[in-house]
Amino acid sequence: MTESPELQSSELRTKRIPLRHGAGQIPALGFGTLIPDAAITRSATKDAVASGFRHFDTAERYLTEREVGEGLQAGLAANGLAREDIFVTTKLWNTHHRPECVEPAFEASLDRLQLTYLDLYLIHTPFAFQPGDDFDPRDENGNVIYDRGVTLLDTWKAMESLVDRGKCGAIGLSDITLKELRPVYEAARIKPAVVQVEAHPYLPETELLEFCKEKGIVFLAFAPLGHGMKPGPLEDPVITAIAARVGKSPAQVLLAWAVQRGTALLTTARSAAHSQENFNISALPADALEEINRIEVRQRLNDVVNTGSPGFIPRAKSA
Ligand SMILES: NC(=O)c1ccc[n+]([C@@H]2O[C@H](COP(=O)([O-])OP(=O)(O)OC[C@H]3O[C@@H](n4cnc5c(N)ncnc54)[C@H](OP(=O)(O)O)[C@@H]3O)[C@@H](O)[C@H]2O)c1
Repeated sequence: MTESPELQSSELRTKRIPLRHGAGQIPALGFGTLIPDAAITRSATKDAVASGFRHFDTAERYLTEREVGEGLQAGLAANGLAREDIFVTTKLWNTHHRPECVEPAFEASLDRLQLTYLDLYLIHTPFAFQPGDDFDPRDENGNVIYDRGVTLLDTWKAMESLVDRGKCGAIGLSDITLKELRPVYEAARIKPAVVQVEAHPYLPETELLEFCKEKGIVFLAFAPLGHGMKPGPLEDPVITAIAARVGKSPAQVLLAWAVQRGTALLTTARSAAHSQENFNISALPADALEEINRIEVRQRLNDVVNTGSPGFIPRAKSA
């Protein structure tokens, strides 16, 4: 399950995973931009480029693609980098699953991001919501209005057309279970290149990871620090003991574990100090990786996979 612990630190930080079902290589260390504040999104994105991150994830639903685009432009200019030096992903929201909505949604995202192509476009969740301008359509009882008139495969075929037309290098799925992924994988003409799901030592998603490895799909873990929630993986006694032993922070231990087990990851940091810390990871020894694999706590932190409605399950969180 776990890849060679002999990876050198610098290799871990700059590791790129070739996309078997798409163009190019995805940097294993990714920066997520799910930050509610627009100004902080802009500065955090720019800081992350300076820290060394070359992989950026956003979504139509986060409502900050414009600020991510500005942060990226500023970050590239300040660090003498070109568009080709970074890998950018965004996601199709649930209200745009109808095939005729896919390309307009994609073009609108590109426009907000100030980009001419995307490296990766994901279907944000497998749940289709009633089409329209309201991202969260609800009935009079407050229940989500789902769209039963479109299947995930219909949407996938429209995503394949974007690749055919050279608009993005790869396509994939997010917030999907293995049960939902299998039929799309089987039927797809262009196979999913990446699957993005919640994963950390409390939710290792081992069966999905094995499937992805077998089929050449990159498993992209979100919330690798358990979304910073406390209690959570950052305060787990196994993680803090390993951190003390190897002279790294708990966050660095969690991120190294994720990369060394063969996943790519998305971590978010509002401050430059955290994004520098999160890029500065080093390989863990094999015994530490095994100890983390033996953690028995199981906890899902985000319920989106069950409903299509985003949101971390409220609980005590660090300041
Ligand atoms: N597909 C989906 O449905 C979905 C759902 C959720 C997230 N995502 C994606 O995944 C990304 C990552 O998710 P996430 O935000 O849950 O990631 P995360 O990295 O697990 O958690 C981020 C939290 O950890 C804190 N943190 C960051 N670095 C730290 C450090 N070195 N020490 C202590 N705390 C630290 C952050 O605080 P500071 O900001 O103060 O640094 C923030 O509160 C998102 O931005 C988004 O792109 C996708």
